Amino acid sequence: MKVSVIGAGTMGAGIAQIAATKGHNVCLYDSFDGAIDNAKNKLNKILNRLVEKERITDEQSRDILGRINFTEELDAIKESNIVIEAIVEDLEIKKNVFSKIENIVNDKCIIASNTSSLSIASIASACKNTERVIGIHFFNPAPLMPLVEIIPAVQTSENTIKNARAIIDSWQKTTVITKDTPGFIVNRVARPFYGEAIRIYEEGIADFATIDWAIRNIGGFRMGPFELMDYIGNDINYTVTETVFAAFYYDQRYKPSFTQKRMKEAGFFGRKSGRGYYDYSLENKPKANEDRELGKKILWRVLSMLINEAVDALFLNIANKEDIDLAMTKGVNYPKGLLAWADEIGVENVLKQLEDLQEEYGEDRYRPSPLLKRMVKENKTFY
Ligand SMILES: NC(=O)c1ccc[n+]([C@@H]2O[C@H](COP(=O)([O-])OP(=O)(O)OC[C@H]3O[C@@H](n4cnc5c(N)ncnc54)[C@H](O)[C@@H]3O)[C@@H](O)[C@H]2O)c1
Repeated sequence: MKVSVIGAGTMGAGIAQIAATKGHNVCLYDSFDGAIDNAKNKLNKILNRLVEKERITDEQSRDILGRINFTEELDAIKESNIVIEAIVEDLEIKKNVFSKIENIVNDKCIIASNTSSLSIASIASACKNTERVIGIHFFNPAPLMPLVEIIPAVQTSENTIKNARAIIDSWQKTTVITKDTPGFIVNRVARPFYGEAIRIYEEGIADFATIDWAIRNIGGFRMGPFELMDYIGNDINYTVTETVFAAFYYDQRYKPSFTQKRMKEAGFFGRKSGRGYYDYSLENKPKANEDRELGKKILWRVLSMLINEAVDALFLNIANKEDIDLAMTKGVNYPKGLLAWADEIGVENVLKQLEDLQEEYGEDRYRPSPLLKRMVKENKTFY
């Protein structure tokens, strides 16, 4: 099989590495000066490290690199079975590239986008044969993160869905099918992890270190929200929030925060800029207030908001319950699936917390999903 990847940046290089490791012939294309050399050097380093760690042999490393054709000629994607686009997140630029791709590949070739936030239907509209266009959304770093969201557009054929999923499954990834709606599963359901944590800080309930401690040590999440935002980058994370908010016709549930906006404006992006919510030039991290009662309150508020998002995604048929839970455990390393977690806590307790918050604040942000109310009324569990 021949796999082509368009855009040799963070995601494109990672996807090319996966495909070449699985034994496919890969064509990695980029149009920008130096991008291809950068990708080649980066992949070389990554593979050398894998050899040092004895995960692969020297010969395997050479074979993997040997299977990748690094190119600045788009014509090299000819005869591909699948093309995965991972260029800049800009609809007009993506559409332009999609129509060029379509003119080069044969009729059977699947054309996929790795977009995080654009609608697959709008990208597909640039093609004549829209049935073969689909979203295939990897997570960063692509070779390490098991989850891949498969996003059929309204135009996508059943055959394309089946074949695209089979290819990604054969790469030993965990695939979930999601509707073509803003943020798909993960970037939609995860919004309160950041938003509600920031809100708790803005209200002066606790500082960054304490909120991170509560979510990490009491909740069992691998990272606290502020550590994670600093890791992702406040520029990127804020933009995703703003995009999702606008795409949902300004639903208050997804409202971005001034706190993070100021971080972005100040250039406090996080780890990559040396400063974000934390100052990375300091030797010691600020100390958390390890008050368990306070910690439980913080966790409970963030968790009930996350569960509400997961329930609402199920209510609106964004994906099935198994896929919603898999997406959060395999895509962002949550310690448990949110719907399974709701069963464990009791859906009536989650509903009560949301109703209390909505009553106290009078904000639509806290409105419980109709499905949550229905489940409590009917005394049901998710599993
Ligand atoms: N970074 C992430 O965490 C992440 C996760 C999932 C999905 N995505 C999505 O993947 C895509 C790429 O993101 P990234 O982080 O790898 O970006 P990046 O900036 O690291 O890489 C983009 C690459 O595309 C190239 N490029 C830009 N315009 C091009 C064009 N017209 N033709 C050919 N090459 C072009 C650039 O030279 C660059 O090498 C975006 O759609 C993004 O939303 C990113």
